[in-house]
Amino acid sequence: MKGLILAGGTGSRLRPITHTGPKQLVPVANRPVIEYAIEDLKEAGVTEIGIVLGNLGREAIQEYLGDGSDYGLEITYIIQGNPLGLAHAAGCAEEFIDGENFVMYLGDNILEGGITELVESFQAGNHSAGIALQHVEDPQQFGVADVDTEGTVRALVEKPDDPPSDLALIGIYVFSPTIFDAIEALEPSWRGELEITDAIQSLLDDGHSIDSAVVEGWWKDTGKPEDVLDANRLVLEDTTGAVDGTVEDGTEITGNVDVAEGATLEAGAVIRGPVSIGEDVRITADTYLGPYTSIGDGSTIENAHIENTVVVGEATIRTNVKIVDSLIGEGATIDTAEDLLPEGKRLVIGENSQLKL
Ligand code: TTP
Repeated sequence: MKGLILAGGTGSRLRPITHTGPKQLVPVANRPVIEYAIEDLKEAGVTEIGIVLGNLGREAIQEYLGDGSDYGLEITYIIQGNPLGLAHAAGCAEEFIDGENFVMYLGDNILEGGITELVESFQAGNHSAGIALQHVEDPQQFGVADVDTEGTVRALVEKPDDPPSDLALIGIYVFSPTIFDAIEALEPSWRGELEITDAIQSLLDDGHSIDSAVVEGWWKDTGKPEDVLDANRLVLEDTTGAVDGTVEDGTEITGNVDVAEGATLEAGAVIRGPVSIGEDVRITADTYLGPYTSIGDGSTIENAHIENTVVVGEATIRTNVKIVDSLIGEGATIDTAEDLLPEGKRLVIGENSQLKL
């Protein structure tokens, strides 16, 4: 069984963060989201992973993951270029897959429970594909599966008005190489993409057996800023509080707080976990970090009050204005406006930024 992670796409819903980097490297609890997919594949027994790259952040992903040896895996990169759809991305990997079965994992998805059950269920039967499903409250917003008591799929419907079940397709699939024939015969959908659900539907129409597994535990697609905050919150719930950096006497810590190597928490700082503090971060006295906050490597946080926020990378925050529910990009500086005359806020803001002042 091989693995295929889709890490192309445009990430338009995550701009401006994705103006400078791919969304698959956006950190969740200070680890790029794609790393969780790699771990899940490894846990399911996959050792050879293909990573499909688009135009955005191609080099950054290759630089970060390398040849996979740091993870004990073999990673091969496959260039898709323009994002012509999930089925197109899969089709680009036909040579890499080379006639084997494979798990396809969307590189911006994150799951609590891993994918072992899905993979084992697929392997136990004689199926052409397997899909991961999750119970959702609003099936009208998703691709929905109708399954029998064995978990075999009877039908798939995209965003149905009258859903046959509350089981939504999430971004993880298992395929036999038959999928490539189905992809080859596809026509672009109304949005101009080759859709993976259309390929699976055509397998169904041709009488192939499609397996499913309901994923227990939470699942998040980190396509939008609020999803990144949600995923960060969910992962931080399980943080253990590993301290590798320096915590000065007089720092007040409650709950689990991870402090990475080279980070310094100065006396007087108040941290209420769960919180993740990246490498070489400096947190000064008079700073309050509240629950579900992750501070990216190299950041400086002075005299600030921050809660439920992800600081992506090296940022400087020096303001006593309370910052909550925020996603702050690499290289951002947030300073106090107290000394400004005339009084006011001074902003240099990228395209698609969102501010609540
Ligand atoms: P999406 O979130 O559906 O697409 P996107 O990345 O273009 O985002 P947006 O809608 O905000 O512009 O993609 C899901 C995952 O699949 C993500 O990791 C990117 C990847 N992908 C590809 O690798 N190739 C593609 O052609 C598409 C559409 C997505």
